[in-house]
Amino acid sequence: MQRKVTKAIFPVAGLGTRFLPATKSVPKEIMTLVDRPLIQYAIDEARAAGIKEFIFVTSRGKGALEDYFDHAPQLETELEKKGKTELLNVLQDTNMESGAVAYVRQHKAKGLGHAVWCARRLIGDEPVAVLLPDDVIDADTPCLQQMVEAYEETGGNVVAAMEVPDEKTSAYGILDVASDMGNMVSVKGMVEKPAPGTSPSNLAVIGRYILTPQVLENLNDMETGAGGEIQLTDAIAKEISASDNVYGFRFRGQRFDCGSKAGFLQATVAFGLARPDLRDELGLYLQELMASRQAAQ
Ligand code: UTP
Repeated sequence: MQRKVTKAIFPVAGLGTRFLPATKSVPKEIMTLVDRPLIQYAIDEARAAGIKEFIFVTSRGKGALEDYFDHAPQLETELEKKGKTELLNVLQDTNMESGAVAYVRQHKAKGLGHAVWCARRLIGDEPVAVLLPDDVIDADTPCLQQMVEAYEETGGNVVAAMEVPDEKTSAYGILDVASDMGNMVSVKGMVEKPAPGTSPSNLAVIGRYILTPQVLENLNDMETGAGGEIQLTDAIAKEISASDNVYGFRFRGQRFDCGSKAGFLQATVAFGLARPDLRDELGLYLQELMASRQAAQ
């Protein structure tokens, strides 16, 4: 019988150089969209998809991230005493069950494939989800939940995919499509950051994966690829040649690239406007700002 997906890897060991100087001391994953750290959005999505074990691949300087997952009994008592029940609930919603969180160290930032490989002993012979917290996805049904359903149908590797314009293909892993079934495509190849003009399609992979144990095994003998890093894309591409068992999944929802400054700002505005307590004030401010910019032109 097919095993359920109950484990997820969160690779958070990257250097986050695009957010320097902030990331000198603040891990990128702790940076906040409105009032929740990026990592909280990924955790909530994983929980909704039935994930029970959360594995963080961390690195030096990510202590704040580990602290974030600790319970805060003093703060809770204080809020309780003051009768701030709503805030207490917000805080308690972020509490993780003891033993549900594990940390492994990636000693050197050798790439996403290497980060996932670092968690191999905690995964064993099971399928695993991988979530990159910089990709924040706003969706009615959380993206990973949609993917778990697709995995249960196919039993194969599932990677989240979205259409990108021609000039953006060289920034992504791109799928070479064998057949297109609508929200699912079967894949005959995958290339990391193809040179402009050489992309096999416009279907780009974004930071959500469900991987079979074979892909983790492939990582055992992966050499460095694009950008001098060990690429997860290469280990998945190897699986396509070996077993034809990889599917692209067009998820329903909007993805924000919070690893880039423009994407982070867009997400901040979108999530701010979606919040009932902020919507009116922020909306008005944006309208006034646009009007004054137009008047100045
Ligand atoms: P990025 O490509 O965004 O790299 O990694 P980065 O280091 O986080 O950021 P920049 O490009 O320097 O600004 C995508 C995801 O893979 C993780 C990152 O933490 C991020 O979640 N990653 C990347 C690792 O865990 N280890 C690595 O060696 C590389």
